[in-house]
Amino acid sequence: METMKTLLSRRSISKLKEPYPSKEEMSDVYQAALRAPDHSWLRPWKFIEVTGESRNKLGKAFINSTKKTEEIDGERENKIASLPLRSPMIIIVVARINHDKPNVPRLEQIQSTAAAAQNILLALHDKGYGAYWRTGKYSTERNEYISSELSLDKNDEVLGYLYVGTPEVDAPSIPELENKDFVTYWN
Ligand SMILES: Cc1cc2nc3c(=O)[nH]c(=O)nc-3n(C[C@H](O)[C@H](O)[C@H](O)COP(=O)(O)O)c2cc1C
Repeated sequence: METMKTLLSRRSISKLKEPYPSKEEMSDVYQAALRAPDHSWLRPWKFIEVTGESRNKLGKAFINSTKKTEEIDGERENKIASLPLRSPMIIIVVARINHDKPNVPRLEQIQSTAAAAQNILLALHDKGYGAYWRTGKYSTERNEYISSELSLDKNDEVLGYLYVGTPEVDAPSIPELENKDFVTYWN
């Protein structure tokens, strides 16, 4: 029953402050991620943890990758630089696509990595932390330059950024959704 409580009460929290989870807490969180379903056990997951000053480096990576396709003024640059400072910890979620396995297409490897990301969100919530999954313009899907800024391999794809910390505000109320709007029974 505790598991159902965690599942049903998770909300995305955008306003996050210190402290962020300890190394020990994150060890549990990553173990939860590594329990994601995974066709053929390819283990396509990579998580890059960013805290402290390194968040400024991430801001620079966002700026550099934006400049590849757009001209930006100083004001916009400052705004982009501040994006990673919205939380004390960020986990960059990367799918390392193995193209040698025709029975496990790219999409399945991305699905597995997304399942791992959801396990991270749930484990953090279970431990009392807040998190928010963002992509903005900085997933590989929308920005082909971000991977090289992050020194990733050519088959690595950035699926998103999990902003992590202690909730600064109460979680927004849970939306009421009805199963009947999403579930059908095939007879
Ligand atoms: C792959 C993915 C990317 C997302 N990117 C963004 C984003 O860039 N900006 C944003 O405000 N929300 C983004 N979201 C949505 C939020 O993470 C969150 O799910 C949404 O606000 C709904 O809140 P809830 O999880 O509490 O229902 C993204 C969600 C997913 C699954």
